[in-house]
Amino acid sequence: MIIEPRMRGFICLTAHPKGCEQNVINQINYIKAKGKIDGPKRVLVIGASTGFGLASRITSAFGSDASTIGIFFEKPAAPGKTASPGWYNTAAFEKQAHEAGLYAKSINGDAFSNEVKEKTFALIKEDLGQIDLVIYSLASPVRTDPTTGITHRSVLKPIGAPFKNKTVDFHTGNVTEISIDPCTEQDIENTVKVMGGEDWVMWMDGLKEANLLAPNALTVAYSYIGPALTEAVYRKGTIGRAKDHLEATAFTISDKLADIGGKAYVSVNKALVTQASSAIPVIPLYISLLYKVMKEEGIHEGCIEQIQRLFQDRLYSTSGIPTDDKGRVRIDDWEMREDVQAKVAVLWEEATTESLPAIGDLEGYKTDFFNLFGFKVGGINYEESVEEIVEIAGLQ
Ligand code: NAI
Repeated sequence: MIIEPRMRGFICLTAHPKGCEQNVINQINYIKAKGKIDGPKRVLVIGASTGFGLASRITSAFGSDASTIGIFFEKPAAPGKTASPGWYNTAAFEKQAHEAGLYAKSINGDAFSNEVKEKTFALIKEDLGQIDLVIYSLASPVRTDPTTGITHRSVLKPIGAPFKNKTVDFHTGNVTEISIDPCTEQDIENTVKVMGGEDWVMWMDGLKEANLLAPNALTVAYSYIGPALTEAVYRKGTIGRAKDHLEATAFTISDKLADIGGKAYVSVNKALVTQASSAIPVIPLYISLLYKVMKEEGIHEGCIEQIQRLFQDRLYSTSGIPTDDKGRVRIDDWEMREDVQAKVAVLWEEATTESLPAIGDLEGYKTDFFNLFGFKVGGINYEESVEEIVEIAGLQ
């Protein structure tokens, strides 16, 4: 079928298998060009199909020749209906990994459930024995607690007072004022339940109990801080509470892994266009201004550049893992540079519907957004009919 983008609100309902494949190949080529990293050999990536998780899987496999197991929640294709992008990404990743002689298997299902955990543990036991690195990179709006059966929904709201600021509809370029009402206590609890560290601990407890963690195993989850501009709705809002919990959880897990020499870290990453971040109000405007400044400075990075640097210069650097005063690994250092933030703050004041095309990188934002779904990718002929049904070779 000929596949075109079909939009509903902030999401694209279709995905292009060839475009997704090309994105994965481009990321693999980037990692290969950067050279080998003396990194992990057996890696479990939870949230492996898009964004930072996919980049972590690619970096492990093609940077360190690692065997990888990927967990994700994606939709396969049906006749006349495309799969979700993470499905096509994984099919492409596994094809490339297998061709390179690398072990790669995947599990598609709800990572929050006991079933998916048990299935993963059995697969590790059978195929890899133990794991050296666990990447925890889930971004989800809902979680059913496997112990209580209760389904929690996360919200993106400020705490205590309404949040009023500018935002952009990146499809139309319209800059408008938005006001978001503050959350309830229940909203905070729910968001922490979904995006906090509870499920991360469950994964690590299960892996350790089954003796599936290698001596000195590492686990890393991803967090975000961002600037004062987005603080009320992000870091000091409901999602920020969940990230506080995730960051505190790293210490809990490190304590639990002490006897095997294991460690848990949170890495604070840069703001990037992913399916998760495009749904957060205000962030798209911030990102389009940030991209403009960082591209002008020659320090712009996407997920793959961020994760390559995280592995090479932080997690597997020969001089140990550098952290900030709260024990976090920082790979958002270029985004948070004082000169970068000062420029973004000035542009923020100036941003209107009329000025944004010139002062911001709205085009870059849009291209990145469409790229997530395999559209607007260089070298792809979108007029050509393609097979929408694509299998993932190592799907369990
Ligand atoms: P993403 O939306 O690209 O990826 C999310 C992944 O989680 C996908 O592989 C998806 O299949 C998987 N997933 C979601 N629900 C699942 C479930 N129930 N069971 C199994 N898999 C499930 O998200 P992104 O942006 O890469 O986010 C990953 C982490 O990085 C999140 O913790 C996010 O807060 C963090 N982060 C994101 C930043 C950004 O600007 N995008 C910046 C800094 C941190």
